[in-house]
Amino acid sequence: MRRIFAFALFVTQASFLVTRLDAQYTDQQVDKRVNALLGRMTLEEKIGQLTQIFYMIPDGVKPEERIRKGQVGSFLFVTDPAVVNRLQHVAMEESRLRIPLLIGFDVVHGFHTIFPVPLAMAATWDPILVTRAQAAAAREADAAGTKWAFAPMVDIARDPRWGRIVEGAGEDPFLGSVMAKAQVSGFQGPYLGSPGHVLACVKHFAGYGAAEGGRDYDSVYLSESSLRNVYLPPFRAAVDAGVGCVMSAYMDLNDVPATGNRFLLRDILRQEWGFQGFVVSDAFSISDLVTHGFASDPADATWRAFSAGVDMDMGSNTYLQNLPRLVETGRVSRDAVDKAVRLLLAAKVRLGLFEHPYIDESQTKVVFADRASRTLARTAAARSAVLLRNENHLLPLSKTVASVAVIGPLANSQSDIEGPWSLAGDRAHAVTVLDGIRNKLGAAAKVEYARGGELRRVFPSFFDALFPAPKETPLTPAQATGEISDAVSLAAASDVAVLVLGETQKMSGEGASVSSLDLPGRQQELLKAVVNTGKPVVLVLITGRPLDISWAAEHVPAILEAWFPGTEGGNAIADLLFGDENPGGKLPVTWPRSTGQVPIYYAHNLTHQPDTGKGFTSRYWDLPSSPLYPFGYGLSYTDFSFSNLKLAQTEVFPGQTLYVSVDVQNTGSRTGSEVAQLYIHQRSGSTSRPVRLLKDFERVTLTPGEKKTVHFSLGKDELSFWSSAENKWVEEKATFDLWTGADSNAPLHAEFSVRE
Ligand code: NOJ
Repeated sequence: MRRIFAFALFVTQASFLVTRLDAQYTDQQVDKRVNALLGRMTLEEKIGQLTQIFYMIPDGVKPEERIRKGQVGSFLFVTDPAVVNRLQHVAMEESRLRIPLLIGFDVVHGFHTIFPVPLAMAATWDPILVTRAQAAAAREADAAGTKWAFAPMVDIARDPRWGRIVEGAGEDPFLGSVMAKAQVSGFQGPYLGSPGHVLACVKHFAGYGAAEGGRDYDSVYLSESSLRNVYLPPFRAAVDAGVGCVMSAYMDLNDVPATGNRFLLRDILRQEWGFQGFVVSDAFSISDLVTHGFASDPADATWRAFSAGVDMDMGSNTYLQNLPRLVETGRVSRDAVDKAVRLLLAAKVRLGLFEHPYIDESQTKVVFADRASRTLARTAAARSAVLLRNENHLLPLSKTVASVAVIGPLANSQSDIEGPWSLAGDRAHAVTVLDGIRNKLGAAAKVEYARGGELRRVFPSFFDALFPAPKETPLTPAQATGEISDAVSLAAASDVAVLVLGETQKMSGEGASVSSLDLPGRQQELLKAVVNTGKPVVLVLITGRPLDISWAAEHVPAILEAWFPGTEGGNAIADLLFGDENPGGKLPVTWPRSTGQVPIYYAHNLTHQPDTGKGFTSRYWDLPSSPLYPFGYGLSYTDFSFSNLKLAQTEVFPGQTLYVSVDVQNTGSRTGSEVAQLYIHQRSGSTSRPVRLLKDFERVTLTPGEKKTVHFSLGKDELSFWSSAENKWVEEKATFDLWTGADSNAPLHAEFSVRE
């Protein structure tokens, strides 16, 4: 898999080369330029370079004034190219040292063209596509003057109550690491400063996804074993892929806030991993060290964050206000400040900002209008959808259907189809499910829409305050009931009903944790009422997390998890529903039966009483232990079989690689894709090991009857783990189980041993 990946990466990146063909700077060239600047900088100007300011949050001093005085090195949330150019002009013409600004933004799943959310992109199990999507996002961001993406977000999440599960690759460290690397390559290109690419910033370092109760920002308690075996690997993969920036996290990790956490930022990131880029705080997380009850005041917060290894302050101006005094009093050394400033300046040099601080605004429009990004977004949305159920082959629907009822509060919403973190997205051209079905069927079919009620958060999102939307008066209960009845009447009068249910954009993402995974609002009632009409029903889910669909899983014949699929989402969903695309996405998270099962993940330990169904098992008495759908699961309109599992050897020495192959065949009648997955289990060792662990995979597309041999490898990295008993990485002498197949319950089994 990795060889194909490297080649495709080359092809992808070559195709994104734009007009500028700057060469990569050598380390000597970077040092020379940085040294020349450092020698001329005052302490205040140096600290200015360590300061990033929110453009749209007033801090009492005009941005231009800050730039002129050398008090700011970076802004975030400036997405208008004209404003970027104006600010850069002040930096290049009116500030003493003419240091360009670095503009950063949350380019999480697209900039102008919005791609599926990261959880959906992980569901493609297609790292080449992920690289291409982030390269397209980088190209648009770069064309608008944003040279720094606050992404990839690689936090492992095993509790879908946590709203930010949508921003990452799900529950698994191996899949998460593959996706982390793919995204860094897409954003940054072959080297930092590659034309048409941007600086990536992996976040949130580290452990943020394990928030207690799934409540955003809440404390995290992780053993070193969980941290190193589960939560850190995707960060390590991003660092190994050359990511230029790391963002610290908000929460306490084992009682030490991540933004003041030396163990994370110094011992692991710098010393063990040799990270060479710079560390930025999360927004206001330095001043928040006081709020945590960790630092005594802003000066103490500055000292704690800076000495722990945070180079740049995002948003709080705490360094700007407190670092000078700490240097003057000798608590922070001038050398330490220089070291941090060097990293920031080096990034600016490598990104070519000194040569090209401005953007060509006419070119921005050209890049935004490039249909190639839209086409790619449509492919990505189609490849990310997961078919959860398809009784009696209800899907794909016939294109000659006479009438379709498209129902649900999300069926015709442009903002919701794009999902969270789509603030600069091309909302006006976002294609809803209703649009997509109409585009597909044209005038020949009657495609009618009923909203079936509305969706609202109980507590507002803080994004409402930052980006106020037009106020709408809530429906009265009677009006909502009326909308449900209208939807039922429409379904009853149509040949098929497509229900589009799930979460709004603001119900998912940052500050969007939930206590219940039930379908929000009155959607369950709407669903039941429509199913009761007896008409064929297809449920399309627009969500950033698995929801409780246990009732639907028994009563609705077809269920398609479309996630937040992005600007082209509606077209892609129509492609899938009407058979122009065949679903092949696979779940990157275990799908629980109900909220009470969470956290739930496939890679749990066996315990002293594995759930064999007898005696004192570790299960609940009121629910099966199994999830509704396992990790790695997803159906297709065709069928696949796995056979001929071969291991090159059944014994390997530590450090040796074991090669494995399996045949995958399309046994159905349509072309489709399957993800061949490889899992292992170490039977004994210095610690208990998870019942299964994903260690390799490949998505293959096969025509009817076609068979392909998929090759896997298990090397030292895959066979090692952090042993809490040994307090180090170990590859142990042991017998292993190995399974391969279409999901984490794959039955095809073999054994091998690592021997001395
Ligand atoms: C806070 C979020 O936690 C982080 O992910 C984001 O990059 C920054 N705000 C900037 O928007």
